[in-house]
Amino acid sequence: MKSMILQLARSLRSSASLGLLRGVHSAARPASTHKSGKSVTPEEIYAREHKYGAHNYHPLPVALERGEGVYVWDVEGSRYYDFLSAYSAVNQGHCHPKIVAALTAQASKLTLTSRAFYNDVLGAYEEYVTAMFGYDKVLPMNTGVEGCETACKLARKWAYNVKGVPENKAKIIFADGNFWGRTLAAISSSTDPSSYKGFGPFMPGFELVPFNDISALEKALQDPHVAAFMVEPIQGEAGVVVPDAGYLTKVRELCTRHNVLWIADEVQTGLARTGRRLAVDHEQARPDIVVLGKALSGGVYPVSGVLCDDEVMLTIKPGEHGSTYGGNPVACRVAIAALQVIEDEKLADNAERMGQLLRSELGKLPSDIVTAVRGKGLLNAVVIKETKDYDAWKVCLRLRDNGLLAKPTHGDIIRLAPPLIINESQMRECVDIIHRTVTSL
Ligand SMILES: Cc1ncc(COP(=O)(O)O)c(C=O)c1O
Repeated sequence: MKSMILQLARSLRSSASLGLLRGVHSAARPASTHKSGKSVTPEEIYAREHKYGAHNYHPLPVALERGEGVYVWDVEGSRYYDFLSAYSAVNQGHCHPKIVAALTAQASKLTLTSRAFYNDVLGAYEEYVTAMFGYDKVLPMNTGVEGCETACKLARKWAYNVKGVPENKAKIIFADGNFWGRTLAAISSSTDPSSYKGFGPFMPGFELVPFNDISALEKALQDPHVAAFMVEPIQGEAGVVVPDAGYLTKVRELCTRHNVLWIADEVQTGLARTGRRLAVDHEQARPDIVVLGKALSGGVYPVSGVLCDDEVMLTIKPGEHGSTYGGNPVACRVAIAALQVIEDEKLADNAERMGQLLRSELGKLPSDIVTAVRGKGLLNAVVIKETKDYDAWKVCLRLRDNGLLAKPTHGDIIRLAPPLIINESQMRECVDIIHRTVTSL
């Protein structure tokens, strides 16, 4: 009986025509409501956030209230394909039942002890994640930016204690176009004025080289004060910028030759997003430090972590770094479940296959509108040629109207990154939506 219902639901979903996707209301599900019990319209939701919240985001106008798998629903009951996946946090799909079950089971048992005491889950998670990725130890944090900053702190400590860099002279090299969050340290390495302008003074000891430029890196690494080179294997926020094949292998070689730590920021590219468990696995290149975040919880909870071997990790001693919530029992249970789902459901393989299908279909779009298609696995982007009539934002509005949510970056780029559980018929339906949208411009 249950399988018949599931089958019926699936066939209804896949046969839903493009025009029917928006405006289909789910009678069983009440819309969001005011305290008074009256339902809230999308416009009221936009206005309320605008009035009471900081204006540090510019969301696409759609007011969501529910998610399941590759879909999200707005407060009026319209269904959309999610092609952002919360910036690659929801790799496992919205509200994955196994991850939600892990969250709720642990939440009613023990949520937070702080690291002042031991708990019975942290060690289990540490053992699981280090075995999975092949590093001696993990340092648990919460957000991606904290993970990246932890990696920078580890690199500095290692530089002073192991490499022998004179006190306060350590340098960390970053690539132009990098993005690792919004704290003062993170924006100190940024080359994007909208990230850093008006927020100085900045962190000393950070330097930049062009991305995907091995000779510039080689020159920079000759400075004996360099502790680390931190880089995203594919630059996500910069617009899904994929380096040349062999770049990561050469980064590994150079860092080894110059006794510099290679930090791979896999917060967005990691955990199957690019068609491999980690994006560095495309070249079998092993970084000294790996930073994970986002999909480490499948989008249900902020969980990040830094992986490295003892030579680096044990330079930090008790009291020198930490976080009240980092490594809490809920986060650890959620992370184990999120990692198990990635393995059990072979999400890297699916991302690889669905990514190839998506890019080959996107390549058929009119080249006077879509001037470039790039990406790996299910981290992809299209570049839209702006005209007086449309730009990437307007294309995203029209995609929304046709039942697919995506977000522009840098004015002319649209990232296309659905949950990694998407199947072929869903992907073909999405390709159809994108094709109809672009050809309607
Ligand atoms: C590559 C990369 N690193 C770090 C971060 C920061 O993660 P968070 O927003 O969880 O702090 C991001 C966020 O988009 C990211 O894309």
